[in-house]
Amino acid sequence: MFFRELNRAGCKTYMVGCERTRRAALIDPLKENTGRYIAVAAYFGFKFDYAIDTHTHADHRSGTWDVAELTGAKVVMERHAEAPHVNHHVVHGDTIGVGDLRLKVLYSPGHTPDGMCLYVNDRVFTGDTLLIGGTGRADFAGGDSSAQYDAIVNTLFALPDETLVFPAHDYRGNHQSTIGKEKSSNPRVAGKSREQYIELMSKLHLALPDKIQESLQANQSAIDDDSIKFPDVAQLNTVRQMIPAQLFDRIRGGTAPFILDVREEEEYRDELGHIASSRLIPLKHLPAKATELADRKTSEIVVVCRAGVRSTTAAAILSALGFEHVSHLSGGMLEWNEARLPVER
Ligand SMILES: [Fe+2]
Repeated sequence: MFFRELNRAGCKTYMVGCERTRRAALIDPLKENTGRYIAVAAYFGFKFDYAIDTHTHADHRSGTWDVAELTGAKVVMERHAEAPHVNHHVVHGDTIGVGDLRLKVLYSPGHTPDGMCLYVNDRVFTGDTLLIGGTGRADFAGGDSSAQYDAIVNTLFALPDETLVFPAHDYRGNHQSTIGKEKSSNPRVAGKSREQYIELMSKLHLALPDKIQESLQANQSAIDDDSIKFPDVAQLNTVRQMIPAQLFDRIRGGTAPFILDVREEEEYRDELGHIASSRLIPLKHLPAKATELADRKTSEIVVVCRAGVRSTTAAAILSALGFEHVSHLSGGMLEWNEARLPVER
């Protein structure tokens, strides 16, 4: 198996390749290093089949879309990922075939709701779920320390002790660890109960990542131009939620609010479908098209997307434009479908 870490910095990007077929996958690429990755692949004679994000990153712009656009690689993320233009959504237990290699998907929410680890041969790429001597923070962007503890202890620690661990970040100069070593000495989890872990994680009080404002919502929406000025964290925190059952009751009772879907055109018609009578305005076009909604300024609006993330951004944008009664559908069309509520395609 061909294997390289390509950034030589705190944010880790890994390339794994099948020596026989010369096909490769890129794991957690940075946008600014896209040219470097393509050069390395060309130098060693590999072609990228997949550009994979282990989760939605908050501290750097993802390079998956640029790599895909330039090389024809397919973008892969876990099913709960919000971003559009993901070619393959995967779930726990799926395998991603790269030549003769088989990358097994291990769902590991907690750092984010769309976290996954990739297990191939003797190693596991742990994203920001399990770090070397640490764990990824779980205090924003849908983080959940209890889910994270379960993923680490029940899924990752169930792998053989000698499995090599390659995380998405390390700022202490480490390059790799093993499951056995983390199990016995990781100060966040070794010997800790679930309750102790949750308490420890709630007391970290970390500052938000430096580049969160340029990175997180841009990665969640795959918008990489200046068509949108993303709302800040304080604005996002004021957005009200409606759960799928509530919205469905309103529709059934004949008092439906105006439903605004902010996904891309192709998502509106894909497997998740859309809510009947909803109006589609992709997030990217919302600031320019908001004038078309001028007669809705005082009416009730519920914004809908894939996982309830872009809709939060859109609701905050509308509120800032003077729309008075905006909320968003929590969990988006993913939860709407999980609740088996009706959709149109
Ligand atoms: Fe992360």
